[in-house]
Amino acid sequence: MGVLMNSILGVLAVILATLYQSNVHFALYRGVRLFYGIGHTLEPLSAFPSYKCRRIEDERLQACEDMWLSEATRQLFLACSETRGRQQWSPNGGIFNASGRSLTDHIAVLDIDEPEGIEGAGGFRTRVLETPGYPGTHGDGTLNLVGMSGHDDGADGEVRLWLIDVKPSVDLATGRVLEDQTATGGNQTVEVFRTVGGREATALEHLESFWDPLIMTPNRVAAVGDDTNAFWITNDLGHSQSSWKRSLSPFFGQGSVAHCSGNSDRSQTCHAAIPSGLSWPNGLVHNRHDGLLYVPSSMVGTVDIYEPVRSGSLSTMKKVGTINVGYSIDNLMVNKDGDVWAAVFPSVTKLGKAFDDPYGVHHVPAAAMRIRKGPSGGYEVEKVLEDGFGEVLPMTTSVVHDATTGRLFFGSVISPFIAVCDKVLWKR
Ligand SMILES: *[C@@H]1O[C@H](CO)[C@@H](O)[C@H](O)[C@H]1NC(C)=O
Ligand SMILES: *[C@@H]1O[C@H](CO)[C@@H](O)[C@H](O)[C@H]1NC(C)=O
Repeated sequence: MGVLMNSILGVLAVILATLYQSNVHFALYRGVRLFYGIGHTLEPLSAFPSYKCRRIEDERLQACEDMWLSEATRQLFLACSETRGRQQWSPNGGIFNASGRSLTDHIAVLDIDEPEGIEGAGGFRTRVLETPGYPGTHGDGTLNLVGMSGHDDGADGEVRLWLIDVKPSVDLATGRVLEDQTATGGNQTVEVFRTVGGREATALEHLESFWDPLIMTPNRVAAVGDDTNAFWITNDLGHSQSSWKRSLSPFFGQGSVAHCSGNSDRSQTCHAAIPSGLSWPNGLVHNRHDGLLYVPSSMVGTVDIYEPVRSGSLSTMKKVGTINVGYSIDNLMVNKDGDVWAAVFPSVTKLGKAFDDPYGVHHVPAAAMRIRKGPSGGYEVEKVLEDGFGEVLPMTTSVVHDATTGRLFFGSVISPFIAVCDKVLWKR
């Protein structure tokens, strides 16, 4: 991410000299402000005394870019990787050293009502789910995880998961992973799995693999929740194969949302639900409470809200609003009350440090914002927690709010740990 941002800044001058369209101007203006955190005052954790935060250091919980909370099973599912592997292989961030990629990416599960450690001061009961039978990259069985989504399927505790797998491309003649991935840019799929055995599951059964030209620069997937395994997906840098066009894509609003669904003959249909116009669309989410799709744009710090409109097999989008969050946004989540939570970057310039030296003391600011409907019907945006000096939280890319306990969970694409913040109950 940091690498990409730097290369984007490198071409700013060129764009300024050659173009002056108003939407480009807007993205540029907003992007520069968010990048340097202009207008933000960093606040330390101590400014939020109603939360008590700690790290959970467990090698199974490294580089967990995304998470999904299953309310039915009270389990948190995390898409984890290896910190060192991410430094070599992050196709979304323009990092393409396939030989250094992690070969142990996995889904970890936390039983969030089963705290461990003295007085619950450690982590939570944790396990890793196996994926027997999943072919991975040309039969090696591996996953390369970034964004994820899930759906509670019924009373017996079964859960379906949608995982973005950013595989390296292979030489189709030999089946070997191509040495130079910069030209091909990885090979992205969305993989649908189901837990085997409900709450106590130790494995995932592979249901379906989606591979389509409209899944080009996938960032986050949002499950529709029907029985066709349908989903929406953001393409954060649009549809071009060329790396420089991808770098410029946030300025020209080339980001898109695609909709895909499975057919009964095991074929699939994908179409462009929002063909373009988005500036680095990131962790979109489908809010079952209002039926709307919330799509954040990292470059301009806004969340666009869409009503899905079905006509036959097509799902198009009717834009119903835009919320100005004022921060560069990563993944959104919906809690059980229908509130939307956003992991935001108070200072984008500092993100690169976490990639360069993830084990060091990198002091990357992180914050959690809540977006919800206020009494007047408009949206209220509130910063609920900030670790402006990176004292405890990881370089955060996702935040989950457990409305039952008030706890917040913080995941990170690169940091070798996650964090949890307990809501402090004031005793009189
Ligand atoms: C790619 O990754 C391998 C394995 O980690 C490492 O030995 C090599 O130095 C890396 N190459 C580059 C160009 O960083
Ligand atoms: C990309 O992935 C698809 C689906 O797994 C596979 O059929 C195809 O051969 C892969 N292509 C390359 C170039 O790796």
